[in-house]
Amino acid sequence: MKFDGKTVVVTGGALGIGRATCEILAERGANVVILDWDETAGEELWGKLKNEGVSTIFEKVNVADFEAVKGAVERAHKTFGSINSLVVSAGIQRYGTATSTTEEGWNEVLDVNLKGAWNLAKAGIPFLQEQGGGSIVNVSSVQALATQQNVLAYTVSKHGMVGLTRSIAMDYARQNIRANCVCPGTVDTPMLRWAASLDPNPQSVYDACNAMHPLGRIAQPREIGEVVAFLAHESSSFVTGSVWTADGGLLTQIGGVPQTD
Ligand SMILES: NC(=O)c1ccc[n+]([C@@H]2O[C@H](COP(=O)([O-])OP(=O)(O)OC[C@H]3O[C@@H](n4cnc5c(N)ncnc54)[C@H](O)[C@@H]3O)[C@@H](O)[C@H]2O)c1
Repeated sequence: MKFDGKTVVVTGGALGIGRATCEILAERGANVVILDWDETAGEELWGKLKNEGVSTIFEKVNVADFEAVKGAVERAHKTFGSINSLVVSAGIQRYGTATSTTEEGWNEVLDVNLKGAWNLAKAGIPFLQEQGGGSIVNVSSVQALATQQNVLAYTVSKHGMVGLTRSIAMDYARQNIRANCVCPGTVDTPMLRWAASLDPNPQSVYDACNAMHPLGRIAQPREIGEVVAFLAHESSSFVTGSVWTADGGLLTQIGGVPQTD
């Protein structure tokens, strides 16, 4: 899967799944546009890719801010002359129920996870149209399809990303713009490390996460990046409006039955 001459914008590209996606795309010849609000991590990845001869730019952006996203996408277009794919991996995890979630907490999660994805689509689709088509890949979660306790706002945002993706897929299908969603299970990223650090015994969180996936382990970021890259690439030219789980079998399993091995 070569991306030679193609320009891909990746939000949340500095760390975790977004970073792995940027690295995969770079290895396959893409111009990589890293959008992230973590300047240190973004500059570090930008420098590494530059040293490897990759055409890349980093833009410090809060994805919840439409004008900032639009400005960054316009500068990327000016730099590379085209935009072919949009990848949304920026996201945050917060905890709370219907009664414990504050309005501020709700807005924070929805603004970053859901509005952030809409913002990139809104800013980027005109440039995909200019190319006669393109692809959008939104990284959602298994929590788009099922949920756990105490993750209300996150779950709402991830369910919402499926609706956003399907709506975009329908609205732009005739313009050859495809939109798909990836729903990962647990992935070994800074987000997971932060979540585990909230527990007095972080290792127990890793152990539980490994055990709950039928494959017996959590994913490495590149395992999700590969699915994202496939859906961004023209190899998946007849795939649109779809929701891809990359979850080690997590949502295939009916709970409550002990492991037999
Ligand atoms: N790690 C997991 O287990 C897991 C599982 C399922 C889904 N996901 C989803 O995958 C996506 C990536 O997760 P990850 O684990 O790589 O997370 P991560 O925290 O490791 O990386 C997320 C990146 O997004 C950036 N970011 C966050 N908010 C931003 C904002 N407002 N503006 C710009 N950049 C912002 C961060 O700086 C970081 O570089 C998220 O949407 C997450 O919800 C993660």
